[in-house]
Amino acid sequence: MPYIADSLSKLKEWRVALNSPWLHDGQDAAAGGVPTLGFVPTMGALHDGHLELVRRARASCDKVLVSIFVNPYQFAPTEDFSKYPRTFERDLALLTEAGVDCVFYPSEAEMYPHGRDGIVSVLPPSPLNDTLEGAFRPTFFRGVATIVLKLFTLVQPHRAYFGEKDYQQLLVIEALCRDLNLPVEIVPVQTVREADGLAMSSRNAYLDVEKRQLAPVLHTSLLSVVEASLAGVELADALQSAKKRLGDEARAAELEVELQYLSVCHATTLEPLDRFVLPFVVLVAAKLGEVRLIDNVVVRG
Ligand code: PAF
Repeated sequence: MPYIADSLSKLKEWRVALNSPWLHDGQDAAAGGVPTLGFVPTMGALHDGHLELVRRARASCDKVLVSIFVNPYQFAPTEDFSKYPRTFERDLALLTEAGVDCVFYPSEAEMYPHGRDGIVSVLPPSPLNDTLEGAFRPTFFRGVATIVLKLFTLVQPHRAYFGEKDYQQLLVIEALCRDLNLPVEIVPVQTVREADGLAMSSRNAYLDVEKRQLAPVLHTSLLSVVEASLAGVELADALQSAKKRLGDEARAAELEVELQYLSVCHATTLEPLDRFVLPFVVLVAAKLGEVRLIDNVVVRG
């Protein structure tokens, strides 16, 4: 059973006992005999995508800490903060089975003791902050960067593990560490998918049977753009065919799909491309009824 740090003081106790100062990077720490700490930040409602992050951390760090905190600051007032799935007992059982050493499970009151307004926050730069996800969720990355910096300061990990499923979030966190000189190695982990290609996400729990059947169309649309690029099709034509396919499948399933974006961008800057140049990433966001899903495929060459 992991140690449950459900307050900042309990986390501090556990962290101090580990005797592994933050300013050692992972390699120095290992060479100096201090235990390396791997960190997996989550909002709970764990699935195999999260457990893959834990497995990766377990394989290369001496100790593994998972945080579970549904961060209100990254949800807009119109979003699903209050109904976001909260499944602590089940999450804890999964983390126990996965051999996690510590679960950090703080309260909102301790994480935001002065509320959410008027606090110092981290504003990621453009275009990372305001394109794609940022265009549809204007305060999202400020909320994510701020909570991740707070978590890093409290946990002081050597390595932190993030899924490529939230590709833009991963780039924001890499920029956060680079620009603020945080001594944390960010380890990207490939998206884990269901057998039919649907990217694993806590929000998949909102899908009813019909929407669940249609949802893999996001992944097939992404793959069709990648295949078109390999076949020498122009980028604009590849996107147009993928959008048509998505629309056709939604009509056939008699479901309403609001495509928010399907774009091809440079894989490290997220600048939109008008022709296929490596490395690129194809990203999609769509609402199936009220359920908003995102996915991406990275092509590095
Ligand atoms: O990806 C998530 O689950 C969240 O955005 C994160 C990184 C835990 C910050 O709240």
